[in-house]
Amino acid sequence: MSNHHKNSITSLIYQISGLIPAKALEFIANEFPGKVTFSSSFSYEDQVITHDILQNKLAISIFTLDTGRMFSETYSVWSSTNERYNTHIKAYYPNATNLQNFIAAKGPNSFYESIDNRKECCNIRKVEPLKRALAGNEVWITGLRAEHSASRQHLQQIEWDEVNQIIKYHPLLHWTTEQVEQYIRSNNIPYNSLHDKGFVSIGCAPCTRAIKPGEDFRAGRWWWESADKKECGLHAS
Ligand code: ADX
Ligand code: SF4
Repeated sequence: MSNHHKNSITSLIYQISGLIPAKALEFIANEFPGKVTFSSSFSYEDQVITHDILQNKLAISIFTLDTGRMFSETYSVWSSTNERYNTHIKAYYPNATNLQNFIAAKGPNSFYESIDNRKECCNIRKVEPLKRALAGNEVWITGLRAEHSASRQHLQQIEWDEVNQIIKYHPLLHWTTEQVEQYIRSNNIPYNSLHDKGFVSIGCAPCTRAIKPGEDFRAGRWWWESADKKECGLHAS
C-alpha cells in the first residue's frame, strides 16, 4: 500500500468514527462522488446496507453478482427489494464463453470434485464479474461481518484492497447478529426467507446448507472442504 493510500485510509477511519452506518455511508459518498459502489448478495447484512442507501437516496450504486446458481429464495428477495425501494438492482453475469467452455469440459457440478474446480467456478461466476463491477470506482462497500469467521476478525473497517486496487469499507463489520436482526425487524426490511430455516451465510445453492445452533457461521458454505479453503476469492486480500 502506498503512503498516499495509507494516509487517506487513516483519515477516513478517523472521520467516520462514531457515525452510524447510514451517516458514514453518506460521508463516503460525498467524499468520492459517483465512485462508490456496494456489492449485495441479499444477505441479512447486505439488506441493512441496501436499506440505508436507498431509503436515504445516497449516491452509491448497488450491484449483485448473479452466479446463475443462487437459491430461488435469493431471487425472491432481490425482486421484493426492487419493489420495496422502487429500483432495479443491477446484476453482473459470468462471461458466457468462459462459462460455456468450463461446463463443457467439466460438467455442471464439478465443484464437488476438487478444490481447483470449485475455485475455477467461483472465478468464472464471481471473481471475474466483480472486476467489471468495480471498474471505475474508488470505494467498494461490503456486508462483511467479523462474527462470520476467524479471518474476518482481523479486518479493518476501511482497508486497501491490493488485488482490486480499491478502498474497501465494511460498515457492519462490528455489528452483532442481534443488531442486524433488530434493524431488519424494526425497519421491516425484506430478507432472505432461508434465514428462518437455519441458513446463516448464504451463497450459491449447491454450495450452501443450513447450520445447526452453535456451529460456525460459515460451516454451511462449501461444507465438504476444510475450513482454511473456504473463501471464494471475492475477499482475497
Ligand atoms: S463470500 O466470500 O463467502 O462469498 P459472503 O457470502 O460471506 O462472501 O458475503 C460477504 C460480502 O461479500 C457480502 O456482504 C457482499 O458484499 C459480498 N458478496 C458475496 N457474494 C456476493 C454476490 N454474489 N454478489 C455481490 N456481492 C457478494
Ligand atoms: Fe460455483 Fe459454488 Fe462458487 Fe457458486 S459458490 S460460483 S456454484 S463453486
